[in-house]
Amino acid sequence: MSDLFVEITCPNGQSYKQPTGLFINNEFVAATSGEFVESINPATGKPICKVHAAGVEDIDKAVKAAKAAFPAWKQMDGCERRDLLLKLAALVERDRDILGALEANDSGKPKDSNAVYDVDEVVALLKYVAGWADKLEGSVIPAGPNKFAYTIREPIGVVGCIIPFNYPLAMFGWKLTALAAGNCAIFKSAEQTPLSVLYFAQLFKEAGFPPGVAQVVSGFGRVAGDALVKHPDVQKIAFTGSTATGRVIQKVAADYLKPVTLECGGKTALLVFDDADLEQAVKWTAFGIFYNMGQICTGSSRAYVHESIYEKFLQELKAHVIAEYPQGLPFEDGVVVGPQVSKAQYDKILNYIQSGKDQGARVVLGGKVPDRKDLQDGYFIEPTIFADVKQDFKIVEEEIFGPVISIAKFNTDEEAVSLANDSIYALGAALFTKDITRAHLVAQQLESGMVWINSNNDSDVRIPFGGNKMSGNETRELGKFGIEAFTVAKAIHVNLGNKL
Ligand code: NAI
Ligand code: MG
Repeated sequence: MSDLFVEITCPNGQSYKQPTGLFINNEFVAATSGEFVESINPATGKPICKVHAAGVEDIDKAVKAAKAAFPAWKQMDGCERRDLLLKLAALVERDRDILGALEANDSGKPKDSNAVYDVDEVVALLKYVAGWADKLEGSVIPAGPNKFAYTIREPIGVVGCIIPFNYPLAMFGWKLTALAAGNCAIFKSAEQTPLSVLYFAQLFKEAGFPPGVAQVVSGFGRVAGDALVKHPDVQKIAFTGSTATGRVIQKVAADYLKPVTLECGGKTALLVFDDADLEQAVKWTAFGIFYNMGQICTGSSRAYVHESIYEKFLQELKAHVIAEYPQGLPFEDGVVVGPQVSKAQYDKILNYIQSGKDQGARVVLGGKVPDRKDLQDGYFIEPTIFADVKQDFKIVEEEIFGPVISIAKFNTDEEAVSLANDSIYALGAALFTKDITRAHLVAQQLESGMVWINSNNDSDVRIPFGGNKMSGNETRELGKFGIEAFTVAKAIHVNLGNKL
């Protein structure tokens, strides 16, 4: 079983032991499928290692482990679950640097300006949901003379969590909420980024989690992901990823009446009104589309700017991005923009850029791959600003999932709202104004699940996150809504009288 761990040295010289098996019942095991996922370093296009890919039988094994562990985990005092989650948070904090490094190596996120913050996100989540583990309460409902009912919040059972490539650790982290609520889980990483969550899996055991509570598997969506959705003993699916895959999952899950939490694509609109603090608007706009190489479901890929400040905004945004978003290798000092996660994403984004040019958008910045010689083998694309776009341009309608923003002007507030809402997606929206009445009126008219006033892409584990329309199915992660989504209410009727 020597292939269950490999020694990996990151480009910055940090070495560690990378698990490659499937983490089931607190042990790494080989997949019976005989299949592997090859993990690629997107900064060089070179393979890092191969990890075992779960097949249908492997998923069944993982589900059986979770099912066996569930009764005891459900019965466990919430205080004990809380303490285990806090212990886990402490171990993640201890391993922050290595988790950041291996994530940077596998996903291309710049280590110091990006990857380590994903680790912090997991820590914040764990501490937050640990606090819920001992506070899941129900209520008492009077039901006439001598009768009442009380409700308890129970865990659902075995849940399948399907993770995307853009935030491998953070999206896995959000779904750890399932455990706090008393569920057992199988976490499946994305094909492009399997390494960080496999490393993380060891920490469950070290923290003292009972075997079977948390399984972590690598595998292909159409095999391992599909097997999770179809498994009759998996009672809920929590998914983050593309709208196309979300639709497939909801359809397949319908056969089992299985609840699904879907966090899918987005096309966040950002509105800059004439009275906005321009410096703030510029700063947050750039952050919302160029951080994480634009691989953000809430990425502010559309901006609408009042015509009186339109050209000024474009020039200031361009200057800000040149100054504050240097591109380079993930382990290079001062780098903020790394490569896209994969060749497929790189090709897809470059096609969108070409279509923007073909449809007549003005290139204000970027629009190409960088010139630097040492970046040519990786999947690097320059931060790209398009201006003068029209609503029917492909780059305005579709989710690009890359460092590309499309900007147009507006005149009235009504026009701004109508442009923002003119999308099949409704995940996030942002607006910049100093007028408090306008801010709240516009926020209420926007159709998205989240609105940022004078900020953009801020998230906090206490605040519900999720989208409407084609961005999801109106389910939410994080906050009180997020933990409740991993529980089910049971009503217990009590009769103290003797009448029928
Ligand atoms: P995807 O949505 O297919 O993959 C997300 C996860 O779902 C992965 O773990 C994958 O293995 C799994 N999966 C795929 N097919 C499945 C199935 N039939 N049943 C169960 N699980 C399945 O996304 P992909 O192919 O990696 O990226 C394609 C596009 O999706 C991107 O270009 C981007 O536009 C969008 N995307 C959006 C995300 C968001 O947060 N809005 C996240 C990831 C991708
Ligand atoms: Mg990779």
